[in-house]
Amino acid sequence: MEEKEKDKIIIDSLVKSIRRLVGVIALMLFSMIIITLFAIYQPDLTALFKKSKSEIHAEQNKKIEYEKWQNEKKLKEELSTYWSAADINSIPPDSNIKSQIEYGQELIAHTAKYLGPNGSVAKITNGMNCQNCHLEAGTKAWGNNYGAVFSTYPKYRARSGKEEDIYKRINDCIERSLNGTALALDSKEMQAIKSYIEFIGKDVKKGEKPKGSGIFELPYLDRPADPVKGKELFVVKCQSCHQANGEGLLAADKIEYTYPPLWGKNSYNHGAGLYRMSRFAGFIKYNMPQGATFQNPLLSDEEAWDLAAFINSQPRPSKNLSADWPNIAEKPVDHPFGPYADKFSEEQHKFGPFQLIADEKKKNEKSK
Ligand code: HEC
Ligand code: HEC
Repeated sequence: MEEKEKDKIIIDSLVKSIRRLVGVIALMLFSMIIITLFAIYQPDLTALFKKSKSEIHAEQNKKIEYEKWQNEKKLKEELSTYWSAADINSIPPDSNIKSQIEYGQELIAHTAKYLGPNGSVAKITNGMNCQNCHLEAGTKAWGNNYGAVFSTYPKYRARSGKEEDIYKRINDCIERSLNGTALALDSKEMQAIKSYIEFIGKDVKKGEKPKGSGIFELPYLDRPADPVKGKELFVVKCQSCHQANGEGLLAADKIEYTYPPLWGKNSYNHGAGLYRMSRFAGFIKYNMPQGATFQNPLLSDEEAWDLAAFINSQPRPSKNLSADWPNIAEKPVDHPFGPYADKFSEEQHKFGPFQLIADEKKKNEKSK
């Protein structure tokens, strides 16, 4: 009996050991199979935690959309701080003042109809409209608008070396930008233009230059602007409207331009504001090709400067400028005619780079 008992215990423990052994072997076999399967199929485990390509794409799109939305919001907010013209409709109807202001607006928008080569009042200008350069009758943000005229005139202007009133400034554009003959100050037309410009700017505080008024100050390039590149750009981006010869396109009535001239005998003359590179480049940056705005510019800064270099190298009417800039130290850095108070060449004053000239001008002004 004792013997039997002992045998049983031995057998029991033997069976237990065998079972354990079988268990271990089974486990080993199982892991070997798993490892082999792993080796064969090499599943990308990391993919389990990674996003699929389409998910990543969707996320990127979302980010781009968000940035676009944010940008548009920023531009809108910026634009809401800009000058906007006083509303002519706020003047009671049938008042003399209202009809005078409305005539002024009409003269700005359709100058050639009244004062151009086929004008009904006088034939004293080249056929361009003030509005060709002062967009939306001088009300568009960065469209060379009249936002700072009533608030800052009369003022000293270095070009004439004198204090100028609004009449003088209007006649400046007639004689230079419209290459024409000055209007008599007491003429109905001059009075109307002045009333209009004063009215739309009447809400600006005296002495202030509101944001978005006039022409945008484009940052300088660190190289000379390149007329060769400018010509290539002109062909692609401007020629379809302003024509291959740059002389624009008259409307069917032969009175006003559908597309105004950029050079040639009917364009602005050498004494005009746009003949300065910074004025031209700053003007087109947010206004050309037609349809461009501050929110939706269609030219890079470099393109704007190179286009200015090409277009302002083409032939146009000249003007006797001998009375301009009586103090040569006050010439703007981009005035293309010497003599100068600095050592920079006429070439550099025309095409740039302008930063060194500007730095020296500032230094000399400070040391005075
Ligand atoms: C060929 C383009 C062009 C045409 C056309 C033109 N102007 Fe100008 N005008 C300019 C430029 C450029 C300036 C200078 C803007 C600057 O320096 O910031 C200017 C400036 C002015 C200013 C002063 C603006 C300021 O804030 O100091 C007045 C006023 C003005 N023009 C009135 C007129 C009137 C009125 C007409 C039509 C009879 C006219 N302009 C036609 C280009 C033009
Ligand atoms: C789709 C037609 C169109 C294209 C393209 C176009 N413009 Fe204009 N441009 C106009 C019109 C129209 C005006 C006059 C705006 C008005 O009267 O409201 C104008 C006015 C101008 C003016 C001021 C008036 C003058 O004749 O001096 C300049 C400067 C100018 N454009 C330059 C350019 C440049 C540079 C390009 C090419 C980057 C260009 N434009 C492309 C239609 C166009």
